[in-house]
Amino acid sequence: MSNRLKVTPNDLSAFWMPFTANRQFKQAPRMFVGAKDMHYTTSDGRQVLDGTAGLWCVNAGHCRPKIVEAIQQQAAELDYAPAFQMGHPIVFELANRLIDIAPDGMEHVFFTNSGSESVDTALKMAIAYHRAKGDGSRVRLIGRERGYHGVNFGGISVGGIVSNRKMFGSLLTGVDHLPHTHLPEKNAFARGEPEHGAELANELERIVALHDASTIAAVIVEPVAGSTGVLIPPKGYLQKLRDICTKHGILLIFDEVITGFGRLGTNFATDYFGVTPDIITTAKGVTNGVIPMGAVFVKKEIHDAFMNGPEHLIEFFHGYTYSGNPIACAAALGTLDTYREEGLLTRGAELAGYWADALHSLKDEPHVIDIRNIGLVGAIELAPLPGSPAKRAFEAFVKSFERGALIRTTGDIIALSPPLIIARGQIDELIDLVRGVLRTLE
Ligand SMILES: Cc1ncc(COP(=O)(O)O)c(C=O)c1O
Repeated sequence: MSNRLKVTPNDLSAFWMPFTANRQFKQAPRMFVGAKDMHYTTSDGRQVLDGTAGLWCVNAGHCRPKIVEAIQQQAAELDYAPAFQMGHPIVFELANRLIDIAPDGMEHVFFTNSGSESVDTALKMAIAYHRAKGDGSRVRLIGRERGYHGVNFGGISVGGIVSNRKMFGSLLTGVDHLPHTHLPEKNAFARGEPEHGAELANELERIVALHDASTIAAVIVEPVAGSTGVLIPPKGYLQKLRDICTKHGILLIFDEVITGFGRLGTNFATDYFGVTPDIITTAKGVTNGVIPMGAVFVKKEIHDAFMNGPEHLIEFFHGYTYSGNPIACAAALGTLDTYREEGLLTRGAELAGYWADALHSLKDEPHVIDIRNIGLVGAIELAPLPGSPAKRAFEAFVKSFERGALIRTTGDIIALSPPLIIARGQIDELIDLVRGVLRTLE
């Protein structure tokens, strides 16, 4: 890297930063200039422990050699091939490798460039699938309060995070929302799946009764809601949703953009919970976050419903210029090799108990009102500073960065999701650092 890129530029105004408090940032920039394994290097030369796998994506840790080599080689060999009406071998190889590790029943994969695109792809597939079967009145989509499904119009329409929706007009029509499953009065400090709340899935029956099943295409939920601040499904909840969807011929979509690729200690959350949806959306961990890529997995029946009509005609009028981009595919193959060689997709299961103990040791620290955990995901919910929601957690984020750990906050919730290579000693380090920060908060 050139030295020029290691210093902070004088003028930060041109870049409008995504999901960022721009004015605050530009007054006191937090810059990373390097990364290796579990650590980032800051522009002032400090090491920062990655407590969030970047943005829930760097599951194998940073700058892993197999992935770096794969990208370098591919960039020199075949940089780009048109995604429409042309192919290249490694996109087919990657699809096969992904299907090998995907939950049983998932037999086809459609490539996108992000989680948001995976979600919109899945929603379009669901509506188009019913139409292809002659069931064109099934157009309604059901999401869930507090759900996060990216930032495109489909995703924010089925999503349920108010700040992501309220500025953007009327969104898609024909969308309903299930209630969220956060019941702190009953489930606070539960370890893993909470006991109470499975009956909230029955709300789907109420929505079906209101609109009639014949109008509903799909239900989309995150098996574990991540971006809203880690909401773990109550025991039995996902199975109930599955049963109701099956009963009414509604497709069930699991958005596994965060939970896919080992986050819960299984390949996918679908495996963890033993509940199989009809479509699975993924992104992030598919390439270890290194090159943008998303992948949507579908059952054979859904794919096959499109495979009719004259053979020279396109079956699904959807796709992206960079669907299955060769360099992204190479990154994904290098990632899958790394996951396999190091047993990373199941490492979260080995660490889950240690992780849970470490997290719950924060229970009696100042401001903590709930702690939630599953696999290698954790949330520490803080009481908001009166009159200033989100301020206390934001301060925790800034102070953690200054002390040497990257954490993530949503509202007044601290979310942790470290790379799956984290060592037990680094879990202690991360949690002790957060403990120290909690003790300094106003
Ligand atoms: C469940 C879920 N779906 C979709 C997305 C959107 O992914 P992207 O930011 O790659 O568009 C995210 C991102 O965090 C996510 O957590």
